Amino acid sequence: MADSSRPPLSTVAASRLSGWLGHLGVSPMAFDDTLSLIDPLLAIHHLRARVVSKVSETPSASTVVLQAGAAFHGLLPGQYVMIGVTIAGVRHRRAYSPRAMAGHPGRFAITVQRQPEGFVSKFINESLQVGTVIDIEQAAGEFTLPLPLPTQVLLVAGGSGITPSMSMLEHLHAKARHTRVTLVYFARSAHERIFGQALQQLAANWPQFQYVPIDSVANTPSDGGGRPAPQAQAPVQLLDIELLNRIMPNWAEVPAYCCGPAPLMDAARALWHAASASANLHLEAFAPPKPSGDPNEHHSVRLLRDHSAQHFDAAGNQTLLVAGEEAGLSIQHGCRQGICHECTCRLNSGSVRDIATGERIDGQGQPIRLCVSSAMSDLELEALN
Ligand SMILES: Cc1cc2nc3c(=O)[nH]c(=O)nc-3n(C[C@H](O)[C@H](O)[C@H](O)COP(=O)(O)OP(=O)(O)OC[C@H]3O[C@@H](n4cnc5c(N)ncnc54)[C@H](O)[C@@H]3O)c2cc1C
Ligand code: FES
Repeated sequence: MADSSRPPLSTVAASRLSGWLGHLGVSPMAFDDTLSLIDPLLAIHHLRARVVSKVSETPSASTVVLQAGAAFHGLLPGQYVMIGVTIAGVRHRRAYSPRAMAGHPGRFAITVQRQPEGFVSKFINESLQVGTVIDIEQAAGEFTLPLPLPTQVLLVAGGSGITPSMSMLEHLHAKARHTRVTLVYFARSAHERIFGQALQQLAANWPQFQYVPIDSVANTPSDGGGRPAPQAQAPVQLLDIELLNRIMPNWAEVPAYCCGPAPLMDAARALWHAASASANLHLEAFAPPKPSGDPNEHHSVRLLRDHSAQHFDAAGNQTLLVAGEEAGLSIQHGCRQGICHECTCRLNSGSVRDIATGERIDGQGQPIRLCVSSAMSDLELEALN
């Protein structure tokens, strides 16, 4: 891990004490609750972090610096951290790509772009206060740099997809300054470019870093943050082979990391595939793809929960979570992104499409995640949470 590879002694001691108390019938959560009375960050099972600062990056994005307790294991650049916030009495979990804060164990920053009608991103930008304690989980995710660190890296980012790239850039600058890094960063305008100034400064002081900012409305759709609609003459530049060949002739041969809106990632997938270099391309999606089924095809869903059955209809272009909610059901969920598994149900019969993997699943009792599944036939589901 980048900022702390071993848990501190206090955490080891607290874990041992929790284990011994467990033998005496004291649950780990009760132990955590007692520690939390002293300081919420002392908890070792239910991780928490305190907001230590918050700044605006652009009119619609803010950076929040969080201090986690000693039980947080640290993070690798490019990974995500699930955070949990309570809004109007309901807990919501979302993933954000953190940057470690050098010299401050357990401290990291997340930068959150407000999404159109986005529940949590709006709350973080507008209402989250310094001093608030929020839930966090250990860092996870495979969108990370190879070890040993490579001699050349290509980063491609669009909009808020800059956050994992920024984490990797800061790490490479600190630990492997000889690595040649190219960053292609699509944003709607300089004004809306997250970390715009910091990236210019890094480029000015780090000869190995090639920074290619591109203003384009093609890969960065509006975030609905109250910004003016793009003008007719707004620039449209796509990620294409001419651009890649011009800025980095050996682009297909180096490890490449792409994170951004779906059109940008689709373009990258197609370019690397055409160059027979898909193995070198790593992709991170911030939002699952939309279900592409027929909106006019409606399937009947029977959901077994708490010894009773509920029924709703699901169109081919809806996730099962959204279809159930639109029918007025309160369905257990967390991240809505296929990560936390809180919406998992057993698929007893019928077929669904997993929109995260594209896979068709035919019901034989397998677990499926309702937030990333769409119906392909009538279904029977059984709630597992
Ligand atoms: C691994 C991972 C890392 C992430 N890292 C970051 C990060 O560093 N910074 C960041 O700002 N976000 C990041 N996200 C996205 C973040 O988790 C939330 O999805 C985002 O903040 C929107 O949540 P919300 O509650 O505001 O929107 P919701 O209320 O869940 O959704 C509202 C609407 O916005 C749409 N929407 C949701 N997310 C996006 C999106 N990313 N782009 C376009 N439309 C969207 C939904 O389809 C929906 O229509 C990451 C996601 C993942 C999976
Ligand atoms: S709500 Fe998290 S996986 Fe579905």
